[in-house]
Amino acid sequence: MIRIIAFLGGLGFVAALLVGALMPREAVEEAVTEKFFKEHKHVSFTTDGPLGKFDHAQLQRGFQVYKEVCSACHSLRLVSFGDLTGIGYTPGQVKTIATEWTQEQPSINPDTGEAATRKNLASDKFPSPFANDVAARAANNNAVPPDLSLMAKAREGGAAYIYSLLTGFQEPPADLPKDSRPGPGLHYNPYFPNLNLSMAPPLVNDGQITYGEGAPKPTVDQMAKDVSAFLIWTAEPKLEARHRAGIATIIFLLIFAGLCWGSYQAIWANKEH
Ligand code: HEC
Repeated sequence: MIRIIAFLGGLGFVAALLVGALMPREAVEEAVTEKFFKEHKHVSFTTDGPLGKFDHAQLQRGFQVYKEVCSACHSLRLVSFGDLTGIGYTPGQVKTIATEWTQEQPSINPDTGEAATRKNLASDKFPSPFANDVAARAANNNAVPPDLSLMAKAREGGAAYIYSLLTGFQEPPADLPKDSRPGPGLHYNPYFPNLNLSMAPPLVNDGQITYGEGAPKPTVDQMAKDVSAFLIWTAEPKLEARHRAGIATIIFLLIFAGLCWGSYQAIWANKEH
């Protein structure tokens, strides 16, 4: 009897697996995403390769894009205002940027004990514009805008993915199945893995931002590139030092290999092989 029950149980298990494996719906969905999803665009940054360096002028433009556009929704909670001296701002400029920043730091009113906000200090991290995730969701079609500090490391393709996402918003193709069409509050973007996201295109017009003198024209493409470069820096501010250390290590190893070879020759010089 027990054997029969065990057999029937096993049979039920196999049947469930078969149904799971052959479920048509998921298969269709996957095929749709695969067909319409696009690999990130190929774009080069000055930090590419082992000799790559930051371009401070570009990072400052990227910061300007973050400040004027992205910071309305995204925090940079691993980066402090003071860190901006790393891209060429003076401590005085940093102080002005911090005190004039629109989103303030959460704090407590010392007299009443109630929640309050205070101006930013150079030592503060870039704050989130939303009090908490609930408020963030409420303002963004139920999606929380993620912190951008490490975004260039967190996604496959890194900065090139961010650039592609920012320049990739478009009308959904006519042959996109109904299920995969953007619902209310969603925006079609084939570089986003599930094709639709809750972020409206943040960079839409050439000249949306005014760059300083001598800067390239602020086209959507240029702004997207600059802010992506800035996010490479936020994710890895010590990239240049790492590259330098790598080159120094390789030079050391080459010299060391030469010395080893020399001493090998010297030691075996008079020996019969
Ligand atoms: C009006 C609010 C808003 C603004 C402005 C905004 N974003 Fe977003 N962003 C969002 C929301 C909401 C999401 C989450 C989307 C989702 O998961 O559907 C998001 C997601 C992202 C993602 C993550 C995509 C992923 O792979 O998960 C990146 C990268 C991003 N935004 C970059 C930027 C940059 C760079 C800017 C400035 C040029 C910017 N955003 C401006 C709301 C905004």
